[in-house]
Amino acid sequence: MVGILKIGGSVLTDKTKLESPRMEAIERIAAEVASCSSGLVLVHGAGSFGHIHADKYDLRERFDPEGILETHRSVVRLNEIVVEALGQAGAHPVPVHPLSCALLQDGRIRDMNIGPLTEMIERGLLPVLHGDVVMDRARGADILSGDQIITHLARSLGADVVALGTREDGVIYGGEVVSRVTRENYHRIEPELGGSRGVDDVTGGMRKKVMELLDLADDGIPSLIFNAGKKGMIEKALEGELVGTLVEGSS
Ligand SMILES: Nc1ncnc2c1ncn2[C@@H]1O[C@H](COP(=O)(O)OP(=O)(O)OP(=O)(O)O)[C@@H](O)[C@H]1O
Ligand SMILES: [Mg+2]
Repeated sequence: MVGILKIGGSVLTDKTKLESPRMEAIERIAAEVASCSSGLVLVHGAGSFGHIHADKYDLRERFDPEGILETHRSVVRLNEIVVEALGQAGAHPVPVHPLSCALLQDGRIRDMNIGPLTEMIERGLLPVLHGDVVMDRARGADILSGDQIITHLARSLGADVVALGTREDGVIYGGEVVSRVTRENYHRIEPELGGSRGVDDVTGGMRKKVMELLDLADDGIPSLIFNAGKKGMIEKALEGELVGTLVEGSS
C-alpha cells in the first residue's frame, strides 16, 4: 500500500510574504503525518519560498544560473523546516530534491529516479520531496510543481491513495465544494477555477492542479483535493474518506 500526499505551500507558508513558514501549521501537520506515515511519500509545495525567486528571475523564460541556485536554495530551506518538524514528530523523514533526481523535457518530467524512493518506503523511511527548479532538456531549466511530481509518482509507484492538501475545502464552484470533478463537469466549473490567491503562483494555482489531476484520472488513478489547513483531515483523506473534491475518471 503506497500513499502519495501533497501538502500545498499555501498551507505551510504565507504566500503573500517572502519565505514565511506557518510554524504552527507545519508542526501540526508533521504530527498528523507521523501518525500515518507508513508506506507514504510526502511532497510539499514551495509556497512563498520558491515562487517569488522564480518570478524575480523569470526562470520559466530565461536560463539563469544565479536564479536556479537562489530558487533551489529557497525551496530547500522550506524542505529543511518540514523535515525537521517531521523528525521531531517521530517520523523517519529523508529529504529528496527533484533538482538532483528528475529531468524535464518542455516542462514535463521525462526521467525521475524512483529506485531510491521504493527502497526508502520499504525500509520505513518517509521521502519528502518538494516543488523545485529542475533541469529541462529543451529549456535549460524549468519549475517543477509539487502537483506534477505527485501525478508522476502516483503513476510510477502505482499509488493506492493520492491526496492533495491545500488551504481550501476542495474545488469551489458557486460558493460550494464540488464533491466530484470529471471530464464531464470540468467545462462547467472551469470559469471559476483560478490561479493562486497569494503570490502570483508560477505553477498555476487551482486550475493547473485540476488539469494535472484529470490527466491522472484518465490513467485510472483518482485523487482527492482536501483542506490540510484543518486538523484531522490528513488521516481522513489517506483513509479514503471523501473529505473534499474527488477528481476521477468519467464513468
Ligand atoms: N475554484 C477554486 N476553488 C478553490 N480554490 C481556488 C479556486 N480558484 C482559485 N483558487 C485558489 O487556488 C489556491 C490553491 O492553489 P495554490 O497553488 O495556491 O495552492 P497549493 O497548491 O496548495 O500551494 P503550492 O502551489 O505552493 O504548493 C487556493 O488557495 C485558492 O486561492
Ligand atoms: Mg499550487
